[in-house]
Amino acid sequence: MPDAISVTVNGSAIRVPPNTSALAAILISRASSSSPFVRRSVTGEPRGPLCAMGICFECRATINNQRHSRACLILCAPGMDIRTNE
Ligand code: FES
Repeated sequence: MPDAISVTVNGSAIRVPPNTSALAAILISRASSSSPFVRRSVTGEPRGPLCAMGICFECRATINNQRHSRACLILCAPGMDIRTNE
């Protein structure tokens, strides 16, 4: 098993350990940001993950072109494309 896999978050490549959730990859990509929010609602409000177990739907992202995916339930795979705010 590789030590890390490459994924892209909003077009930026990052490397994460195997078995990292897509939500964790989003948060890792935002590590230098002081904001806890990962996306905006359709009305423009900042939103962030609440439950990390598939209930709140606040972690929705477009993952490999599949819109409204719950990022907390999906494990990263090599080459995965993760986009927020689409
Ligand atoms: S963080 Fe609640 S569904 Fe993903």
